[in-house]
This record gives sequence, structure tokens and C-alpha cells, in this order.
Amino acid sequence: APGLGDLAKRAGLKYFGTAIDNVVLDNDDYTDIAFNESEFNQVTPSNGQKWVHIEPKKGVFNYTLGDEIVDPSKDEGQMRRCHNFVWHNQLPDWLTTGNWTKTTLLQVLENHIKHEADYYWGDCYAWDVVNEAFEDNGTYRSDIWLNTIGPSYIEHAFRFARKHTSPGTKLYYNDYGIERVNAKSVAVQAMIKDFQARGVPIDGVGLQSHFTAGRAPLYSDIRAAQQLYTSIGLETALTELDVRIDLPDNANKTAAQARVYADSVRACVDEEGCVGVTVWDFWDPVSWVPESFPGQGNACLWDENFVRKPAYYAVADVL
Ligand code: XIL
Repeated sequence: APGLGDLAKRAGLKYFGTAIDNVVLDNDDYTDIAFNESEFNQVTPSNGQKWVHIEPKKGVFNYTLGDEIVDPSKDEGQMRRCHNFVWHNQLPDWLTTGNWTKTTLLQVLENHIKHEADYYWGDCYAWDVVNEAFEDNGTYRSDIWLNTIGPSYIEHAFRFARKHTSPGTKLYYNDYGIERVNAKSVAVQAMIKDFQARGVPIDGVGLQSHFTAGRAPLYSDIRAAQQLYTSIGLETALTELDVRIDLPDNANKTAAQARVYADSVRACVDEEGCVGVTVWDFWDPVSWVPESFPGQGNACLWDENFVRKPAYYAVADVL
């Protein structure tokens, strides 16, 4: 049978992909699915390209965890979304405890982007340049970047990314909670309009799409949210789709989950400008959900026995 990647291309998307974590790369049942271009023609390293792993000491770069995912995906002919240059999480201690000025932290930022962009030159369809810079109320997130540099760290990061990534790399702003029209998604639109007016490079917005069955945005919400960005010339993608369930699971919840997955994927397929969908891992036991949201789980398309769940077939039906 054709896989989700095959079906996505037929449906007019560039890709259907998955995040892949390093901790399960020794599991052949897992890697047979993860590095299968027919099933997933795009991959995102869940952790391997984050700052804490890439630059564990100032000026010392280590691409081992990134390469463990990038290299086999290249052999398999999969596309990559690369994730990420700037975030408030998973930063090394030398960075979070350093005594920076605006000038020195901007130098650290450019040096990091320069090295990682150069190393993965030509390997990334897109880079998530800045991840999660806004609060839900539409104000900038208070973190080391904002507090040391001010909001201009975002545009600096995009300019550094354009300068140092290979030509044609799509530069994305990526966030959660922007899958509806709300204060946060509108603030992101305002930032982009300002960037466009001043020539700051940006190509796309990633809607992370970490949803909960029973409380997820509707198809129409996700369409309207994407149109905030596609209407001003950007592309969109669902970059981290998963649909968690309030445990214990039951057949009704599993069916509701399948509908959320299907509606979400349909909201990309139907949106001119939405290039693809990435699930934030496909296998329940390696999902970030149980650890991050106690009492919730079973958020993926494959169950613990590597059996495809109803959500898988619902997605395949939409594609
Ligand atoms: C998560 C990973 O999946 C976990 O393994 C890690 O412990 C924490 O980060 N939004 C993002 C992702 O942009 O990078 C996060 O990934 C999930 C939320």
C-alpha cells in the first residue's frame, strides 16, 4: 500500500513527515518506519539539532545527534525540516548562565547560526529559525534573548539565517497555540508585516499543532489561522502535529483523535500555501506527551506494538 508520504504528494503537498528522536534509533521496528520515504518523505530531528547538543561548549560544535537522523534520511531520499536555531529551551548552561551584553549575545547567536547553517548546508528544505517567541497573550516571551537583546533578536536571527543558510532554504517562524485566530497568531502576523515592510527575510510559519482530542481547533480554525500568513505571501506547515488523549483511553477517544488528525491534515491539504504536515513522532512510546503532560498520552499514529491506529487510516483517507 502507498505510505502517507506517497499519498501526500498525490494530494498536492510537498511532504508528510515525522519527527525522529535519537533515543530509539537502535530499534529496527522503529527505524524501518521512520526512514521509509514512502511512509514519511520528510523528517525533523526531535532534539538532535538543538543548541544544547550542537554547541555544548562555547564555540565547540558537535553534530553527532543531528547527523544520526540527517544522514540516514539523506540516504533514504527524505526531505528535512531542520529544528531549530533559536529557542528558550534546551540551551546549554554556559549560555543561560553567561554574563552577556546585547553585543556579545548577538555575536554568540550569529556564530551559532553560522556554524550550524554551514554544516547542514543544502540539507534542509526549511529551518525553524525562531521557535516559540510569543506568549499566548501576544506579548514577547520573556527569556534570555528578549531580556538581553530586546525583540530585535528575532529579526537578527532571520537575517543571520538568510546570510548563512544555503540559497533557497525556507526560513520559518514556528510556534504552538497559533492554530486559531487569537492574540498570539495575530501578533505573529503583525511581526511578519513589520518584517516585510523593513525587508527582514521570512518565508513561512510553522503551526506546531500539539492538540488534545476533544479540545482541538476545528478545521475552520486552522484554515483561518493559516490565512493570516498565506494572505501576506508566506507558506505554512503543520510542523509538530500530535493529538493527545486524556487517559485512560477508550474507543470513543481514539475515534475522536482520528477525527482531529484528519481535520488537521485536511486543513493543510485544502490550504493553497500549506506545504506539508509533520507529526511529532509516530510511535506512542517515544512521544514527548506523557512526560510533558502527565495523565495524557497515546498521541501518535502507531501504538506501542507498532500497529497503525484509526488515526492513521483517517489521515490516509484525507490524503
Ligand atoms: C520536545 C522533544 O520532543 C522532547 O524530547 C524534549 O525533551 C523537549 O522538546 N515544541 C517544540 C519541540 O518546538 O522542539 C519540542 O520537542 C516539543 C514542543
